Amino acid sequence: MISIAVLGCGRIGRMHAANIAAHPRAELAGVFDVHGRAAAEVAEGLGVRRFASADEVFAASGVDAVLIATSTPTHVDFIERGVRAGKAVLCEKPIDLSLERVNALRQRIAGTSVPIMLGFVRRFDNGHGAARRALLDGEIGDLWQVVITSRDPGMAPAAYIEQSGGIFRDMTIHDLDLARFMLGEEVTTVTASGSRLVDPALMERCQDYDVVTVLLSTASGRQAVITNSRQASYGYDQRVELLGSKGMVISENALENLVSRHTADGTSIRARLPHFFIERYRQAFDTEIGLFVDAVENGTPVPVGFEDGRIALLLADACFRSVAEGRTIAVSELE
Ligand SMILES: NC(=O)c1ccc[n+]([C@@H]2O[C@H](COP(=O)([O-])OP(=O)(O)OC[C@H]3O[C@@H](n4cnc5c(N)ncnc54)[C@H](O)[C@@H]3O)[C@@H](O)[C@H]2O)c1
Repeated sequence: MISIAVLGCGRIGRMHAANIAAHPRAELAGVFDVHGRAAAEVAEGLGVRRFASADEVFAASGVDAVLIATSTPTHVDFIERGVRAGKAVLCEKPIDLSLERVNALRQRIAGTSVPIMLGFVRRFDNGHGAARRALLDGEIGDLWQVVITSRDPGMAPAAYIEQSGGIFRDMTIHDLDLARFMLGEEVTTVTASGSRLVDPALMERCQDYDVVTVLLSTASGRQAVITNSRQASYGYDQRVELLGSKGMVISENALENLVSRHTADGTSIRARLPHFFIERYRQAFDTEIGLFVDAVENGTPVPVGFEDGRIALLLADACFRSVAEGRTIAVSELE
């Protein structure tokens, strides 16, 4: 049993805490949140300890690992404290909003043997995973193009957008990581386009974009196209398409059910899309905990690590620069 403490009991922290508590090979050591009521609710609901401070978590001898689900600006400090305390880390994306801070942390923790896993959960989705396996098994031949569609059901609250670091670091970052995972090669150039269509006033105020398209390319010429929108009237749209020399595979949207209607008027499936990320990626979040436990228990490499988090942030920065300067950015310009 790996004993994991959860830092942060907000939207995603409480889901992770419940997943750990339910996992057969993990034990929820307890939870901590600066917002005492949030921590108390989760601790009482799951019947676990509520730590009084982050210090108490990092000092606890019975805690093998920490899951960091606090607000993004706290991640760098908590990762470093986890490493210094010898506790394996599973950290939510992004590592931070500043590449400089991430690079500095990379230097400070260089050479550590403490596992650090990043919560790029989409890698663990059964559908996306099956598409990648088909590629690796040679079913579609040589990979040419990756097309990722990721659209949120509705605009997040203004307060969230204001501190999000912008769409590329907050939202596209998942797809930038997934694109690298599917491409199997490092991205060398980034071209991005950003528009203010859903809430132009808010986007103008935050100097952000709400409808974006990104084109990534690799040294061998493989391409990935990512389309994101902060709003899609029909719900949370999550699809991945891989085109190769011998065919195409598509990881389609998961639907709430698969009932199809066949009448004289025609045929249709009218099921809705799962509401948002917690519903859509339920299986993947659960798998993520299992893979983290495997790596910690067996001393094997984590499936997605600190460097993956750093490169995804670097690509997000390249997207912002591409929009601002209206040109293709070579990734080497940011290294
Ligand atoms: N993997 C995904 O799909 C996904 C989805 C949503 C959010 N996230 C990431 O997860 C993190 C949390 O997001 P959220 O939506 O749950 O936010 P949230 O605001 O709902 O929760 C964050 C919690 O952290 C607590 N907190 C802040 N500073 C703290 C500190 N120093 N010590 C202890 N607790 C502290 C807050 O009180 C709050 O309860 C963010 O980094 C976000 O980018 C990832």
